[in-house]
Amino acid sequence: MTELSKITCIEDFRAVAKRRVPRMFYDYADSGSWTEGTYRSNETDFQKLKFRQRVAVDIEKRSLRTTMAGIDVAMPVAIAPTGLTGMQHADGEILGAKAAEKFGIPFTLSTMSICSIEDIAAHTSRPFWFQLYVMRDKGFMERLINRAKAANCSALVVTLDLQVMGQRNKDIKNGLSTPPKPTLVNLLNLLTKPRWCLGMAGTKRREFGNIVGHVEGISDTSSLASWTNEQFDPSLNWNDIEWIKKLWGGKLILKGIMDAEDARLAVETGADAIVVSNHGGRQLDGAPSSIAALPRIAQAVGNDIEVWMDGGIRSGQDVLRAVALGAKGTLIGRSFLYSLGAFGEAGVTRGLQLIANELDVTMAFCGRTAIKDVDRSILLEPDLFD
Ligand code: GLV
Repeated sequence: MTELSKITCIEDFRAVAKRRVPRMFYDYADSGSWTEGTYRSNETDFQKLKFRQRVAVDIEKRSLRTTMAGIDVAMPVAIAPTGLTGMQHADGEILGAKAAEKFGIPFTLSTMSICSIEDIAAHTSRPFWFQLYVMRDKGFMERLINRAKAANCSALVVTLDLQVMGQRNKDIKNGLSTPPKPTLVNLLNLLTKPRWCLGMAGTKRREFGNIVGHVEGISDTSSLASWTNEQFDPSLNWNDIEWIKKLWGGKLILKGIMDAEDARLAVETGADAIVVSNHGGRQLDGAPSSIAALPRIAQAVGNDIEVWMDGGIRSGQDVLRAVALGAKGTLIGRSFLYSLGAFGEAGVTRGLQLIANELDVTMAFCGRTAIKDVDRSILLEPDLFD
């Protein structure tokens, strides 16, 4: 049995989560669409970026503190919105939000979460962020925005890349649903996950908390894919963003930008930040990795809007690489889910500490003392040995 004290990197968390989380939910997190090529390249492309080691620089006093959309953060990392987080671990969103709050970084609650906006507000004291999908039912969206306002959320993250859903083969094969259907295969798998079952027996939060009981006439809320097909609005366009911006009236983040032209259009909306993201390789398989798309987008918008990125970050070193290529902030999805699925809140806290430490020490090796001052010059330009 692995103890938390033996965990030294995010990959360790992944291995434990794979043992502890029921297969359909572990697979839901650890998968991409179709061939999973983009999902894999999100991780592997980070490795191509080599650091410049510098020596004999005074690196005694160092700081990872910075801001994301004007909000103070302990390091340039926020927890990404992830669907079904409360199925990786009972009450997962509450635990993640509490760990993030204590660490001093933002937590983003997904529309497709198990715990509701009100649940998170009741268990935290600092504002969290809320992620919104654009849906056909504008009345429901309006109610969601008003609920996020009432919960004092400090930013709204609008996801732009899930108007149709990329096919995730593992989810189809596993018959993903929440709560899981009592089939023989599922029951046999659950027998091997006693901790998870015990946690779930102790909570009432097992359905989509932001949706169930808040909308009428939905035929099947247990299936993410059917909810998406029925409810997400394929007619989404930039006018919707204007409408949302007015209704929300606070900090607005646009997530899912992979193209320089779209990034320029996002600037026009007056949003506070964009997230360079291919949805963790779960949507358009065949798109470039997020880290590969980042430099072109950062260059296209300059200082007109803050640029963040997500996808493939598995260490503080990856955070540093993203910052070097122009990201003022990063979002972690799977790194968070693995640590949560493995050890609950204590796992998330430990995961954040590991990432902060990797970031801090790597920055020091590069001869830098403040994350705010890190730029591309900490990376080697490609050379013969790349
Ligand atoms: C979104 O909820 C996803 O499954 O990627």
